[in-house]
Amino acid sequence: MNILIFGGAGFVGRHYTQYFLNKGKFVEIIDNIAPLSGGIHPKKWKLFNPYKFNKKFKFIKQDCRKFFKQKLTKKYNLIINLAAIVGGREVIENNPLAIAEDLEIDTAFWRWSVKNKNKIGHVITYSSSAAYPVSLQRRKNYRLLKESDIDFSKNNLGKPDLSYGWAKLNNEYLASIAFEKHGIKNTIFRPFSGYGSDQDLNYPFPSIIKRAISHRSNKNFIVWGSGHQMRDFIHIKDVIRGSLLITKKVKNGKAINLSSGKFLSFISLSKKIFKILGKKNLKVIGNSTKPEGVFARGGSRLLQKKYGFVPKVSIDQGIKWAIEYFKNY
Ligand SMILES: NC(=O)c1ccc[n+]([C@@H]2O[C@H](COP(=O)([O-])OP(=O)(O)OC[C@H]3O[C@@H](n4cnc5c(N)ncnc54)[C@H](O)[C@@H]3O)[C@@H](O)[C@H]2O)c1
Repeated sequence: MNILIFGGAGFVGRHYTQYFLNKGKFVEIIDNIAPLSGGIHPKKWKLFNPYKFNKKFKFIKQDCRKFFKQKLTKKYNLIINLAAIVGGREVIENNPLAIAEDLEIDTAFWRWSVKNKNKIGHVITYSSSAAYPVSLQRRKNYRLLKESDIDFSKNNLGKPDLSYGWAKLNNEYLASIAFEKHGIKNTIFRPFSGYGSDQDLNYPFPSIIKRAISHRSNKNFIVWGSGHQMRDFIHIKDVIRGSLLITKKVKNGKAINLSSGKFLSFISLSKKIFKILGKKNLKVIGNSTKPEGVFARGGSRLLQKKYGFVPKVSIDQGIKWAIEYFKNY
């Protein structure tokens, strides 16, 4: 089985690569290790060394938009497009035009896929929970977001989360066109807050854990925003497992959530971390000069359950793994 991953040197890509190489598959990555992204050159990956799989692993440092100018010369069973500028909350809010590059990447990707469809078995791409209308994520009227809250066929759309959410809506729309008009079998996901030990420190989960480990207990511990904002955390192992399981069943370019279905505030997350670290009597407070994003973002699990996916890694387990990881790095 041949797999080609654009943006495979990033957080999600590293975990896909590890999963497939361990299963004996061939993995090729095209990634330019873009500034403002979580991309790391494979020679510097901490969780595992992909080069020990010899000829089963290939990395090309290249902008995927350059790669998209050529035609494929061989067949791939699976193509995964993860290439994106995300950069965490500060980049999403303060540099929306940098993020808008994702509109270019995804558009070029889908046009290239159509031209090469005879050489492509299946496509996986990623949207995001940021594609959902922000009006459903406010302090006074939030609820779990369900897939049908975005429906291109029923005029069911709302303003998404800045240019990042806008680019994700573009990706979803093009994914549905790729299937309907060009017959490209594809599955697109809306992960909520995917987290894991080796995630870029611009993301809340690893950055809170790293700071909590070295935090001295006589001071307040500070988190971004009010600290009461809530996210739905799903471990990266579940993101990969859920994506591959659902991909077997959904091939029509209709986006599916990847979520735990649970709201957890940044203050509660920090308190859980301190409890596991055995640090007591700490006060966790917000820093409202830092961006908090929407108030509550959580994803309905009804459709994922229908397709047989239930996340396995509890947040406590994810915290314990990350604490172990940061002891070494
Ligand atoms: N991690 C999550 O929890 C999460 C949640 C929702 C959506 N997503 C989506 O999943 C995808 C992967 O996210 P991630 O967390 O791995 O991000 P990441 O920043 O860690 O990885 C993105 C990768 O894309 C590469 N890249 C950027 N521009 C490129 C280009 N022009 N050509 C080639 N490579 C390029 C970067 O170098 C990086 O390695 C993104 O589309 C993201 O929006 C992730």
